Amino acid sequence: MCGIVGIVGKQSVAPLLVDALKRLEYRGYDSAGVATLENGVLNRRRAQGKLVNLEKKLIAEPLNGFVGIGHTRWATHGVPNVENAHPHFSDNVAIVHNGIIENFRALREELEKKGYVFTSQTDTEVVAHLVASYLKEGLEPIKAAQKTFQRLEGAYALAILFKDADDMIIGARNGPPLAIGHGEGENYLGSDAIALAPFTNKITYLEDGDWCIIKKDNVEIFDFDGNPQERIAQTSASSSFLVDKGNHRHFMLKEIYEQPEVMSHTLSHYLDFGTCESHIGNDLPFDFAKIDRMAISACGTAYYAGLIAKYWFEKYARLPVDIDVASEFRYREMPLPKNGFALFISQSGETADTLASLRYCKEGGMHIGAVVNVVESTIARESDVIFRTLAGPEIGVASTKAFTCQLSVLASLAIAAGKARGVLSDEDEKRLVRELTEAPRYANAALKLEKDLEKIAHDVAKVRHILYLGRDTNFPLAMEGALKLKEISYIHAEGYPAGELKHGPIALIDEDMPVVVIAPHDSIFEKTVSNMQEVAARGGRIILITDEKGASLNSVDTEHMIVMPNMPDILTPLIYALPIQLLAYHTAVIMGTDVDQPRNLAKSVTVE
Ligand code: G6P
Repeated sequence: MCGIVGIVGKQSVAPLLVDALKRLEYRGYDSAGVATLENGVLNRRRAQGKLVNLEKKLIAEPLNGFVGIGHTRWATHGVPNVENAHPHFSDNVAIVHNGIIENFRALREELEKKGYVFTSQTDTEVVAHLVASYLKEGLEPIKAAQKTFQRLEGAYALAILFKDADDMIIGARNGPPLAIGHGEGENYLGSDAIALAPFTNKITYLEDGDWCIIKKDNVEIFDFDGNPQERIAQTSASSSFLVDKGNHRHFMLKEIYEQPEVMSHTLSHYLDFGTCESHIGNDLPFDFAKIDRMAISACGTAYYAGLIAKYWFEKYARLPVDIDVASEFRYREMPLPKNGFALFISQSGETADTLASLRYCKEGGMHIGAVVNVVESTIARESDVIFRTLAGPEIGVASTKAFTCQLSVLASLAIAAGKARGVLSDEDEKRLVRELTEAPRYANAALKLEKDLEKIAHDVAKVRHILYLGRDTNFPLAMEGALKLKEISYIHAEGYPAGELKHGPIALIDEDMPVVVIAPHDSIFEKTVSNMQEVAARGGRIILITDEKGASLNSVDTEHMIVMPNMPDILTPLIYALPIQLLAYHTAVIMGTDVDQPRNLAKSVTVE
């Protein structure tokens, strides 16, 4: 989940490398660095922390050179300091790496015995020394690189620069994505097409095991064994414009406010607002009616979207759903149902665990579908069918609009499945679709509650622990609410099914531990009210998010109450997500954290 870039060009590349790194900063911002080759000398600048620190360093100490590599880091091995920042050097070689070299300990011992001195705690530095050791043995740079790739275990996207080759970068991919950009007298390497968008939209994606030689006027691709490969260049739709915050203080707030619009785009892509029919199921490469089970796998916020979808698929389509976080799914050796459907949800489409789960199901012969926001991503490319979320680029690390767009797609898909399986009648379908088309209107109403949520945030910002409770689809939403809060405010938060409170978490309740209860007036509202009574009876402070009907029927003392409009059941997770996001946002702003780039996190996680 670092970002890497390389340019073999016809002009000074350092400013271009920084421009590309700006677009890759979502992949990590623990440190950044660039290296260039000028007159046969490798030079580098590295800085701890965000890219802006590297930019300042480059102003004070500029780098020249027409060939160079760059890196933005999310630390795995070694603390985020300058020594551990990439590029790493050894003798005549400079290297940037995204991934984890799993056999780095054995390689490090071997290289130390040969006299190589390590200056960092990273796994990456072994790659630099290994290439250097093969050069020392007399191998040509290309052979030295190829031999190195054959020794590496783990995941890597690499770019290698050689002191003795002023017109060449070697790249390699095994796991994390790597794209080649084709320019005019200039060629590029980057973790994604967005990084290369200012330079070119002609992109070739490397496949796993591929490595490549990038020169100014020429690009060659080989497979792991060194056989030349033809990989088709595509025209990327990635925009070269950096998205800005508009009038908002943070990307996260901008993205929260975009939700009515992007939900509307996404829903109208799959639902006919005129006839109130779903057309998402029309061109599927399989028949929902013939499927016995469905598997969903995802990470983080996307996993909670999947968990909500499980309720929908089981309720509206009577289709049993197995759902796992992808890091568990990929190793738990689940028997794969023949003729089953596996659905993967990912904003970035690059999350390593989700991708590994997808490949596991693909090998098992399942139909593969993906709900993705980035259509050119690896997960999108490897799926049989893609269900796009039309959220647009999401910059804030804490996911907001991607989540509600994922829910928009998943609700539409569940309705299509229900129809195909004969569970939903034409009337049911029309009613549910009509209800979904109202989502943007309710989302706008929810945004009007921002000031009330900001007031509550002043109280939340004073606590160290907080619980979120919900039932039915609002239970996964409670977990998403807790995740949002901990991601950006660093307050410890847990989401629980409201009925599970009495089996343990209730022991935590006291006046220092507020409880956020998500309870629209649904068929189990009274049960949730009983759970709130249990909290109140123990001196707990309740922040209730309900609707007008729920507010009128609630009998429990609450410290704060947010009253949403009454709305159909299918809409509640989509719309109640907004107050949950706004509460987390304002709490983080009050606490003064870095809302868009919270500590320790990255937006795209390409390591397991
Ligand atoms: C990271 C991000 C989360 C995101 C998760 C899954 O942890 O910080 O916001 O939900 O990855 O990402 P994906 O791109 O697969 O949705």
